[in-house]
Amino acid sequence: MAVIHRRPSWAISEALATPEDVFLNRRAILAGMGLGLAAAALPRRARAEEKDPTADLYPARRNEAYKLDRPLTPEEVNANYNNFYEYGSYKEIAANAQQLQTRPWEVAIGGLVDKPMTIAIDDLIRKFPLETRLYRHRCVEAWSMTIPWSGFPLKSLVAMVAPRSDAKFIRFETFLDPKMAPGQNDFLYPWPYVEGVTIEEAAIDLPFLVTGAYDKPLARQFGAPIRLALPWKYGFKSIKSIRKIDFVAEQPLGLWEAIQPSEYGFWANVNPEVPHPRWSQARERVLQTGELVPTQLFNGYAAEVSHLYAGKDPARLYM
Ligand code: MTE
Repeated sequence: MAVIHRRPSWAISEALATPEDVFLNRRAILAGMGLGLAAAALPRRARAEEKDPTADLYPARRNEAYKLDRPLTPEEVNANYNNFYEYGSYKEIAANAQQLQTRPWEVAIGGLVDKPMTIAIDDLIRKFPLETRLYRHRCVEAWSMTIPWSGFPLKSLVAMVAPRSDAKFIRFETFLDPKMAPGQNDFLYPWPYVEGVTIEEAAIDLPFLVTGAYDKPLARQFGAPIRLALPWKYGFKSIKSIRKIDFVAEQPLGLWEAIQPSEYGFWANVNPEVPHPRWSQARERVLQTGELVPTQLFNGYAAEVSHLYAGKDPARLYM
């Protein structure tokens, strides 16, 4: 269990899935720690997605360039199977995540840029035309989903703040507020959640800043009000509930790399031929059917991304 071994529970292969009794016991422990606040305690308005100030923007225009080779994961499957450690180290965090307060919400964009800004989320979302893209999502734990995300390309945000030539990486940071995210009381994790990409990775079309899913504003458990989707990388790179975006000269240290650098790296590109130290990455379990299918290099996005890694040492590119 993560709290004891300083290791994410999602790092445990699904093939070694926790027996139900251990799982239930773990929930009891989490509840005792104040991590299991019941959905019953939540005000009704917390679930009223129709009051979202950006609701009028959905459904967003579909970008036909992004197609799938398998059916979409039904919303009710996706919305009840999430990794969001701020709300618990198990998959059924959806009810607990309704504590996330998504307004007011500001995003601070700064560092090595000519036009830094701190912007209210509703202004940020309305700065760019939203579009819907069907993306694959492959977790390092070897399960996968297919999701209709809505949002705008990261490269549009990059252009808006005019990075300087010494900006080599972009560092993303989640909120830090243990009062609305009980998981952040767990001092064994170096909160807040941090992830990053290179400036070259951010320049292609694929990195997507997600503000909606399933034709409506993003549900809290998906990382409202704004999260990243980097579909050619393992899911832990796709940071949720972003508050801060910094353009930096040094490679950012992500939360999982900080905890377990021998298992989780900065690059985390999907590669079926490079096993995780404790399990194979050759296949993945499609969440809605349970079917095992072969995993694809760069999760099926090799045409879009492989040029980014030409000539780079493969030793850590796939972890
Ligand atoms: N972002 C934050 N802030 N906290 C998290 O625990 N988990 C990551 C990533 N982003 C995580 C996060 C992991 S491990 C995965 S697989 C995806 O979010 C899960 O996204 P999903 O719940 O939408 O499938």
